[in-house]
Amino acid sequence: MSATTPLTPGIQRDPARQVWVLVMAHAAYALGATPEGLVLHLHWGARLGALADLSDPALGRDHSSMDTALHLAREEYPVYGGLRYGEFALKATFADGTRDLDLRYDKDEIGEEDGLPTLTLHLHDAVYPLRVSLIYRVDVAHDIIVRSVRIENQGNVAIHIERIFSAVWHLSRSYMAPTLTTLAGRWGAETQIQRQPVVAGITVLEGRRGLTGQTANPWFALDSAATQDAGAVYFGALAWSGNWTLRVATDSTSATVVAGGVHDVDFALPLAPGAAWQAPEFVAGYTEDGFNGARRRLHRFIRAHVLPAPQRATPRPVLYNSWEATWFFVEEAGQLALAERAAALGAELFVVDDGWFAGRNHDRAGLGDWTPDPVKFPHGLQPLIDRVQALGMDFGLWVEPEMVNPASNLYRAHPDWVYHFPTRPRSESRHQLVLNLARDDVRAHVLAVLDGLLTTYPIRFLKWDMNRPISEPGWPDEPDQARAIWVRHVAGVYAIMDALRLRHPDLSIEACASGGGRADLGILRHADQIWTSDNTHPEARLRIQEGFALALPARVMVAWVTDTPMDRGRNEIPLAFRFHVAMLGTLGIGGNLLAWDAAELAEAARWVALYKAIRPLVQDGDQAWLTPLGNANIVAVQYLAPTGVAGVIFGFRRADLFGDSSPPVRLRDLEPAATYRLSIPDEEPCVRTGAALMAQGITLPLPAGSYASCVVRFAREAASSG
Ligand code: DGJ
Repeated sequence: MSATTPLTPGIQRDPARQVWVLVMAHAAYALGATPEGLVLHLHWGARLGALADLSDPALGRDHSSMDTALHLAREEYPVYGGLRYGEFALKATFADGTRDLDLRYDKDEIGEEDGLPTLTLHLHDAVYPLRVSLIYRVDVAHDIIVRSVRIENQGNVAIHIERIFSAVWHLSRSYMAPTLTTLAGRWGAETQIQRQPVVAGITVLEGRRGLTGQTANPWFALDSAATQDAGAVYFGALAWSGNWTLRVATDSTSATVVAGGVHDVDFALPLAPGAAWQAPEFVAGYTEDGFNGARRRLHRFIRAHVLPAPQRATPRPVLYNSWEATWFFVEEAGQLALAERAAALGAELFVVDDGWFAGRNHDRAGLGDWTPDPVKFPHGLQPLIDRVQALGMDFGLWVEPEMVNPASNLYRAHPDWVYHFPTRPRSESRHQLVLNLARDDVRAHVLAVLDGLLTTYPIRFLKWDMNRPISEPGWPDEPDQARAIWVRHVAGVYAIMDALRLRHPDLSIEACASGGGRADLGILRHADQIWTSDNTHPEARLRIQEGFALALPARVMVAWVTDTPMDRGRNEIPLAFRFHVAMLGTLGIGGNLLAWDAAELAEAARWVALYKAIRPLVQDGDQAWLTPLGNANIVAVQYLAPTGVAGVIFGFRRADLFGDSSPPVRLRDLEPAATYRLSIPDEEPCVRTGAALMAQGITLPLPAGSYASCVVRFAREAASSG
């Protein structure tokens, strides 16, 4: 290809000048190696025309003795070493005590992985036998780049890695003073949208409890006056379910960078001679189609390239979960009664939550001993499962495999299997301790127990919970590995999930950590769905789900209709509103159905039937929020089939304070010239052009009053042949 040939999608390179361009449908990312072997960032933003558009990669000049050329260079993977003082991604100590890195470009490699073009740039330290490979996978259709890094010790003494981030992303320097959007919260209040200006300095987002966490989510967006539908947005998500950090910083040129990966707090990875280690993937993209454009791209990428196959191609079932109905008091007769009602409503999966195993009458005992409680289930789980299956549902079970209660046979037999320091107390939270999944023997035990359950019983679904953070992270038998537990634990969780899936190919897994504490792209390589939050109040859920939906697609967002509304006595929320909020994701029911009256059960069955009819749109369609970002009083969410032939809109009014009529909401991404048939509840079907629906919109049929909601379906009419 000559330097002026128009760039075509894929990975393009100019070997003579050592430049590479990742060309995507609407975006481009370019990098290059200087003659000295430094890999520099050259461009991330809209498409470029030709390779000739890129200037030669070169180190600039010193600005001052304090801001040298090396410090100012926009390096793709800056290390801790030399005159560099900005964000860095890699820090290592060599056996001779040298704590300084000097990476040089070696060679490139272009290939394909999972159907995505892949560029790998191999670098090596100028003196020490450390190889560092920068990996870029490109989802051309969705303007997304997946970065990772692999390190390899090619020498014969260990190298100690003290930080290894997955990527440093440089935003275009033309993109000054962006706004940072993050998802923050706490237990019962996850993924709430926060917006703040980027100012000089560093904003640190992190999770350092051994899991993804609820205080922040490893997702970001940076925009410059973008709306839901227009404006440039950089967005990204780290695929990791352990300690993590994202550092949003300004560099010495006032440009914004985002550096992130496994958190380096208390972290050290001894890289043995010959050993290699690959950092988690960091996914990021660029769009000029606003937040809906970013959301659509990320959701499509996750559905196509992250979620486990083959389950990602099948609808997520409507589930019933026992937790809020029966808490720890699950027993055969009660669950059978709930199962009858759940099946009558149309549930497809019946999940028995916490409380089913020996000694589990409260949260003070039982974790670790995964056998059915002989009092609650005198004949084991089989009679219940038989009936559930006879009712046409699959059976699912709650487990918390990483945990143990001191009051358990497992802990009495293996007190050394938990993280601990011999001289410190073992801090309990919810009366439980964390099993050391960095240990091979503990992993093997957990796998054997879960595999045994899945082999004994026809269980199609596990809800995998984790209800406390790691503390006192000691591993007395392996002092050398003690600071690597932060990555080994997560690797253990992933490995056990994968092994179970391999042995039981029909298994689905729901990731849960006291609600949405494990909502990230890392777990979604191994789990099919996520329990979004323990807070099932519909109003709170709408907020939590709005944030969640910026990062993760509807099919993984599990939402139950419950009796919960905590203020229900004072503030009745209609069943329709509760269903509609839950129907924005994968629908579940968690209320005590034995207390629902005939009218409620009949209405619920109608909503479940409607959900099943629109499920392909919700779970696999493109989601667009038609109302402004951030808890608008009136909310409208559109799901459109990827083919564009049909769609559905959910409308909500939170509070009706002034009796105002609802403003029209404008639909998105329709074909202007096509006509669409609208099914608006209690109205005659009507037909409008795509142009009109996008220009004038529709008035949502929201009943008067607070907590009003509606579902409007539409379908494109076949083009007439004349
Ligand atoms: C926390 C989860 O988020 C809940 O849904 C439930 O499974 C409980 N744990 C059970 O202990």
